[in-house]
Amino acid sequence: MAIEKREKYLMIWLICALSLILVWFLIRLWYFRQVDRSRQQLCHLDGKTVPGENPKMLVGNMVKVYRAKNSLSAYHWFHEQFGEIVQIFWLWRQQISITNYLMIRHILVDNQKNYSKFPPNSLIQRLYGNSVLTNNGDEWKRHRFLLNEVFSKKQIVGFHHIFVNYSEQLAHKWNRYIQQCGERAELNIYPELLALFLDIVGKVSIGKDFAALEGEADEFLSNLNYIVGQSIRPVHQFTTWWKYLPFPSNHKLNKAFGAIDDVLYQLIRQRKELSEPYSSNVLDLLLQATDSLETDLQPLTDKEVRDNLLAIIVNGHETVATTVALSLYLLARYPQKLTRAQGEIDKIMTRDREKLTEAGLSKLDYLNCVVLESLRFCPPMAGLQRISIDPDVLEGWSIPAEQVVGITLKPLHYNPEYFGEQPEQFHPERYLNNEDTLSPGGIVTATKSQDQCPWKKFLTPHKEDSSRRTNTGVYFPLTFGDGARKCLGEHFAMYEMKVALAVLLYHFDFQVAPNFEAELELGKFGLFLTTFPKGGIEMIISPRIH
Ligand code: HEM
Repeated sequence: MAIEKREKYLMIWLICALSLILVWFLIRLWYFRQVDRSRQQLCHLDGKTVPGENPKMLVGNMVKVYRAKNSLSAYHWFHEQFGEIVQIFWLWRQQISITNYLMIRHILVDNQKNYSKFPPNSLIQRLYGNSVLTNNGDEWKRHRFLLNEVFSKKQIVGFHHIFVNYSEQLAHKWNRYIQQCGERAELNIYPELLALFLDIVGKVSIGKDFAALEGEADEFLSNLNYIVGQSIRPVHQFTTWWKYLPFPSNHKLNKAFGAIDDVLYQLIRQRKELSEPYSSNVLDLLLQATDSLETDLQPLTDKEVRDNLLAIIVNGHETVATTVALSLYLLARYPQKLTRAQGEIDKIMTRDREKLTEAGLSKLDYLNCVVLESLRFCPPMAGLQRISIDPDVLEGWSIPAEQVVGITLKPLHYNPEYFGEQPEQFHPERYLNNEDTLSPGGIVTATKSQDQCPWKKFLTPHKEDSSRRTNTGVYFPLTFGDGARKCLGEHFAMYEMKVALAVLLYHFDFQVAPNFEAELELGKFGLFLTTFPKGGIEMIISPRIH
């Protein structure tokens, strides 16, 4: 009897084990068929398939990414190993990552109609709704047309005093800090700069002082932070239904959305009730956009105004804070360049009695180059993402419909064909001509050496494209994107970053804290692939005597 029972159990175990092996075998068959199919669809005219690391069953190349020092360096590793176009598997889904200028131009500019933005996860979609950031096609065109005016150079100058006031507030705060901690105070400047740009974007967009610089917990801001924090959780990245489950975190999420909407809709109502049109911030300008542009386009609805405001507030502070923090860090690493930047600012500030004017700012060519070089050297956006609509051919590679394409910026930015010699050096001078001025429209006559480029083995030669070059022939970095969907806030960002840098460099000297090395990591996987300095930026700040 006992033997019979044992045999029965043995049989059951055997059947289970065989079923498992069969299931494993079928999954394996299915998985590697998917891999083969996607490889065949992505082949080159000469028959080659897109290179990449062999994926592991089900997990694809994710092991590589999670084992890497950080996920940004993993992306760069793929390009170092396999070249300008590489296929990467995320579980059973795959994408290609490209870092070749001609391919990027084709996607963002020449054939941009065939590539739409990669759809965000459902929480981010709820946050930004139907905004310029999330729309495609005609709806996007309408939003972009109305918003372009709001973010025109003319309007941005109107915010000059806000940029200066908040930057000076930060300088006062640091002076108080130095008084407490002594002349050579060590400080993590990254959270400070995040607070500065949050306060600026709050004031500029909705006229609200978030008081982030003073360390106060504004309710609107904490609700927004909560939503953004939740949106990067894998459960929200990979599912659309999680948010409906009756968990306390989801309840809090709904409350946060409700509170934010209450504030914004109330502001919209209040501004609409004003008898005289009055423009002091982005909200006002958006409400009046169709009238001031005298267009037949449908005005933005209250919901669309709310959506665009949130897109601007959320995207309008982190990238700028990262760029300014890194610019200060890089200047401190290259003291001669720090001295040169400070010399230029001192001249303007002394002439204008220590008040940074709009005219003074426009004279700061070297500072402009510092920001451009920082955007090239350490792009605060690791890359962009698109998805193809119809099949296409990309520099000889066949691209099927619905192919996810990632654009990785750093290897491109280290290509001397586009960005000049010694790309691994922080060298703002690369954008300046002999008269120390900077303007677009240069033509390069000689081909520069590629020997120094860390990614030299796979570089292709460039075609002339003078409109995207500075007058020294060096390209503008692609950190703001290119083509129709180029960053809406580019001029705004450049303006506020230069103001903040000018004020801080005028008042302080910067040194890198002992043993500190900045490291960029990939940030949230929302709509953009933003990067942030892991652990912040530790500096020693000391007051300058004028
Ligand atoms: C250093 C700072 C910044 C960088 C590097 C940056 C980068 C970018 C990039 C690369 C894109 C295009 C994304 C794509 O094509 O997929 C973009 C789009 C956008 N950016 Fe920025 N950005 C910055 C600052 C800002 C600021 C300050 C604002 C708002 C005040 C802003 C608002 C937007 C919006 C609304 C879009 C969507 C435009 C569209 O799709 O038509 N950005 N940004």
